[in-house]
Amino acid sequence: MRAHEAGALHAEGYGGPPHWLPTPGDVNELMPQLWPQTVARDEQGRLTVGGLDVVSIAREFGTAAYVLDEEDFRARARAFRDEFAEPFAELGGVDVYYAGKAFLCTEVARWVADEGLCLDVCSGGELAVAQRAGFPAERIGLHGNNKSLAEIRQALEYGVGRIVVDSFEEIERVAAVATELEVRAPVMVRVTVGVEAHTHEFIATAHEDQKFGFSLAGGRAAEAVARILEHDGTLDLLGLHSHIGSQIFDTSGFEVSARRLIGLHAEVARVHGVHMPELDLGGGYGIAYTSEHTPLQPRELGEQMADLVARELKTVGDGSPDVPAPKISIEPGRAIAGPSTFTLYEVGTVKDVDLGGGLTRTYVSVDGGMSDNIRTALYDADYSCTLASRRSEAGPRLARVVGRHCESGDIVVMDEYLPDDITAGDLVAVPGTGAYCRSMASQYNHTPRPPVVAVRDGRARVLVRRETVEDLLALDVG
Ligand SMILES: Cc1ncc(COP(=O)(O)O)c(C=O)c1O
Repeated sequence: MRAHEAGALHAEGYGGPPHWLPTPGDVNELMPQLWPQTVARDEQGRLTVGGLDVVSIAREFGTAAYVLDEEDFRARARAFRDEFAEPFAELGGVDVYYAGKAFLCTEVARWVADEGLCLDVCSGGELAVAQRAGFPAERIGLHGNNKSLAEIRQALEYGVGRIVVDSFEEIERVAAVATELEVRAPVMVRVTVGVEAHTHEFIATAHEDQKFGFSLAGGRAAEAVARILEHDGTLDLLGLHSHIGSQIFDTSGFEVSARRLIGLHAEVARVHGVHMPELDLGGGYGIAYTSEHTPLQPRELGEQMADLVARELKTVGDGSPDVPAPKISIEPGRAIAGPSTFTLYEVGTVKDVDLGGGLTRTYVSVDGGMSDNIRTALYDADYSCTLASRRSEAGPRLARVVGRHCESGDIVVMDEYLPDDITAGDLVAVPGTGAYCRSMASQYNHTPRPPVVAVRDGRARVLVRRETVEDLLALDVG
């Protein structure tokens, strides 16, 4: 059933469980690929993470809560750094930018810096977090299709390593602020390459009807390069950038985008005699939210991405022998933050609803919902979940896990087999909520946003505290 603005009765009817959700033999079993690396069950069947059980985490920090496995996050960041470094060593090297929009707070910015990654921010607020963490300025890239003058100034005053420009107005704005500050601003050009990728499919077309970037096919990207070069004293052209989509499980879309970008990269060398030192292929690597998803691991990704870049450079090089390999960058967000975190909820009610024709659906309501995870309602995203506070000997019952908000589309997990004895007071954990959940969280229904609790080596600490009703009221000036 898809969520519908007008309410559940307007949505599609009961279609049964999705094809990728088999009835489990044992409802307590965990699929390791969905969970942070340190997650297990203890003798009582309680979920443990970083050496702590979730019942004590819930007692100390309350629910709903995002529980972040620090070691898992760091290991994924390191894996991208290391597994890309080797295959790209002979190709001009690689930088990994963690996309902070997935999830960012001061401590996470410090982990990203510690692990030797760069950081992609897309607003003055994200940049402020990086600044507070003391993130090295030269390793920060600033994105955004409508940066304010204040954001451009903030970035240049801090000395960020790159600003990815997105419009002709912005080229002039960055040049003006750079002139005012008497600096030379390092810029990249966001290119719309005409590739749209999701999961295993991508579409390569001339259709570019979206707000980001300069069109390659229409010649605007080349025009942007020319205009930047006219500001040679104030703008330092680093290279081209593209980002083709999200939840991508296959590198074929990157191959087409690399071909198109490298084509323009070589044209700039030919036409302007300028060798841009960098080229950014963006983020978008997929993760497993359910058994349906089989993501590529950083090693395979690193090898495949290096192979395709080498191939495209060679093709271009054949016609134009002196195009030196630019340093490549990638911008994974979800693939680092997503699997590191699960959301811990407490069950409040369990209700069977008659669907007609003798069918019923079990609705399990938890103490959170679309305010802490909007992705189900926004993107029809699928999630999994498990009973986290105990082992159950009961058989499986197909359930829908819903939130506590005043929307029938307030669904957390569309379909999951939970134990038949699931009841109020049980804890349920939803994995894969580290990316685009806290960062997109709202206070809908005046619901204070949950905390982010990091766990490592048997210790838990709050990275972002729970909001309170006082926090909400503090903004309301009466
Ligand atoms: C420019 C850019 N880079 C990187 C990302 C990160 O994507 P993901 O979290 O899917 O890796 C995004 C996401 O929207 C993006 O817009």
